[in-house]
Amino acid sequence: MPTKNLFRKPFDEGTKTKLTLFEKYLLEWLPVFLSPNKIIWPEINIFDFFAGEGFDCIGTKGSPILILDNIKKYESLIRSKNLKVNVYFNEFTKTAYDTLVENLIPFEKEDYIKIHHYNEDFQLVFKRLYPQIKASNTANLIFLDQNGIKQINEDVFLKLITANTTDFLFFISSSLFTRFSEHEAFTKHVSINKNDLLNKNYYNIHRTIFNYYKSLIPFSKSYYLAPFSIKKNSNIYGLIFGTHHTLGIEKFLNQSWKLDKIRGEANFDIDNDNHTIGQVDLFSNKVLGPKKTEAFESDLRALIINKTLKSNYQVYEYGLTNGFLPKHTNVILKNLKTEKIIKNDYVSLNGDIHKIKDIDKQTLITI
Ligand SMILES: C[S@@+](CC[C@H](N)C(=O)[O-])C[C@H]1O[C@@H](n2cnc3c(N)ncnc32)[C@H](O)[C@@H]1O
Repeated sequence: MPTKNLFRKPFDEGTKTKLTLFEKYLLEWLPVFLSPNKIIWPEINIFDFFAGEGFDCIGTKGSPILILDNIKKYESLIRSKNLKVNVYFNEFTKTAYDTLVENLIPFEKEDYIKIHHYNEDFQLVFKRLYPQIKASNTANLIFLDQNGIKQINEDVFLKLITANTTDFLFFISSSLFTRFSEHEAFTKHVSINKNDLLNKNYYNIHRTIFNYYKSLIPFSKSYYLAPFSIKKNSNIYGLIFGTHHTLGIEKFLNQSWKLDKIRGEANFDIDNDNHTIGQVDLFSNKVLGPKKTEAFESDLRALIINKTLKSNYQVYEYGLTNGFLPKHTNVILKNLKTEKIIKNDYVSLNGDIHKIKDIDKQTLITI
């Protein structure tokens, strides 16, 4: 079956949301690795494994051009520190690859960026480049903008989360799992329980897929993932972001909350909140907020009160793993202090909270 050419029409709003989130994260990621005074990672790699042509038919920039344009902003820093910046593009469709190569020509004169490009199947290139991703002297950002669902299988996902200093963002057509969940061609790639899909609200399908990937993380491993659901017509797609670092997830969530100011997680009303926000709860007399925030507040309060979460750092991590930023979590901590449930001086999550992983640097919460 010939592949549908995605570049013969302008990118739609869903695609633009995806690329905006990718670019915003890229903009946060680059200075973390390019600007420190002490060089920890002499080699910085960006991988775009499903690169496309570079532009849509009306000249909107696709991921390859966004990557290169943003690296160019750091030219003087890269030169002055003598850093090695590699960008790896892969595109399977020959015609799209040929167009991509043409679109890369203007960047070839930038001698501080080393561009590599391949016209191969993702699985082969990923396997071959994986030793570079795994190498201890590299910092990597990996964008996996697949069509459909099948490329990020368990093996690829486990490889991604075991590479050090590697953040990734992958796209997945989540609602295909419901439509084709009985179709072997799809289900053989990932072991998701069909009942998990059928019992869920359709709008939540990307969250279900996200939870499936989350369940693959070994229990002993500290790793952070975040979803972002994207609705295009009646289909639900989504992004899944992964990182080893609290600062990485904080930066990603920061961008997600800029796009979705109500719950930081979707380009549509995923929780059907519009009907309830602002209403007064008959029992508590409280003005209701978004369902996600209400549930987070109630869970976080219970976990602090029953002393499951004992320090400011644990509360910070709990917030991040549930998609909330320190500024959201701080409101709840402040309320607990006002209610005299938290007894010590105001326990807050400040801008340096990610630096205090060591238990002896954390503030213990007194209940
Ligand atoms: C959604 S598009 C990527 C768009 C691109 N990120 C952009 O911003 O313009 C997915 C691309 O993956 C390519 N592709 C499909 N199967 C592939 C495979 N097995 N390996 C690598 N690329 C593949 C398609 O030809 C298509 O150009």
